[in-house]
Amino acid sequence: MTLRSVIRGSGSALPARAVSNAELAKMVDTTDEWIVERTGIRNRYIAGEGETTGTLATEAARRALDAAGIEASSIDLIVLGTASPDQTFPATATIVQNALGCRGGIAFDVAAVCSGFLYALGTADALLRTGAAKRALVIGAETMSRLLDWEDRTTCVLFGDGAGAIVLEAVEVDENDPEAPGILMTRLHADGAHGELLHMDGGPSTTGTVGKLRMKGREVFRHAVVNLASVLEEVLGATGHAAVDIDWVVPHQANARILDATARKLGLPEEKVVVTVDRHANTSAASVPLAFDAAVRDGRIKPGHLVMFEAMGGGFTWGASLVRI
Ligand code: ACO
Repeated sequence: MTLRSVIRGSGSALPARAVSNAELAKMVDTTDEWIVERTGIRNRYIAGEGETTGTLATEAARRALDAAGIEASSIDLIVLGTASPDQTFPATATIVQNALGCRGGIAFDVAAVCSGFLYALGTADALLRTGAAKRALVIGAETMSRLLDWEDRTTCVLFGDGAGAIVLEAVEVDENDPEAPGILMTRLHADGAHGELLHMDGGPSTTGTVGKLRMKGREVFRHAVVNLASVLEEVLGATGHAAVDIDWVVPHQANARILDATARKLGLPEEKVVVTVDRHANTSAASVPLAFDAAVRDGRIKPGHLVMFEAMGGGFTWGASLVRI
């Protein structure tokens, strides 16, 4: 027998206000056609007054706990991926912990931008398998709209706000059973040499301000396709699986063209890729759990399925995780 982290439930939350491409075209020099053709994005949700990364994360966490049928009081680990925390400190994970009323366990944020959920998942899985905790909430939550330069059409059309969460539980499974559920493997990477290609131009210890998001889109695109294909092959190779074994890929929803190019490189049919970028845009760390929850709730992802999560973001950071549901 071996200890594995098993997904017990998922949940997600979006701000109340939906913003179409047409609405953005009234604010900056862009068009619905340009945005759809270059990115696949048609809509995004933007946080309003009273909606923060913490409130969205808490709502997603509550829904994940409901889906799992698990009381908040039994959660002893919260790992939250975000690049847009409510405050520099305390960690948004502790704000969520307090809102859920589950004090005393471990709670912290991880900063890996769009790979934040993958980094949170890998960290939580490692802690659960050492016995440091039994039941975890793994959350990706963002209010990217508050980091954007709303006069820069090259970035402001790409992002949206939201949150997604899963409940993980440490469970003894038979490692010789190929159908046994749980996280089979997570591989994470970073290469700080490319930090300037996607960064915030401010921060607490440099400018004393939050700054605005800056990106060299073309270069990011090129690195994203190469890095994602490489980590997907790494995880498949290390687990002895082939691309044909995968039931669903749940990728970071950066851009429809990145999703297509990565799927093509691996020979994965596009029907196996969960796509929500058209309705959510790029919600950074929230995008993978938001897309996962959508596909669980509409019945596509079912118990027994083999699911690959993958993401790439600022840093650069990237990673992939193979999970039997
Ligand atoms: N509306 C209209 N025109 C625009 C807009 C806009 N919103 N934004 C840029 N343009 C113009 C540019 O000014 C440029 O005009 P020019 O030729 O007169 O100079 C032209 O469109 C082409 O610009 P490019 O930046 O070369 O366009 P590209 O085809 O590379 O598409 C995009 C830009 C969508 C950002 C693309 O590079 C991309 O998807 N990159 C990946 C980056 C990404 O998704 N990052 C998200 C965060 S990282 C991550 O999650 C992995």
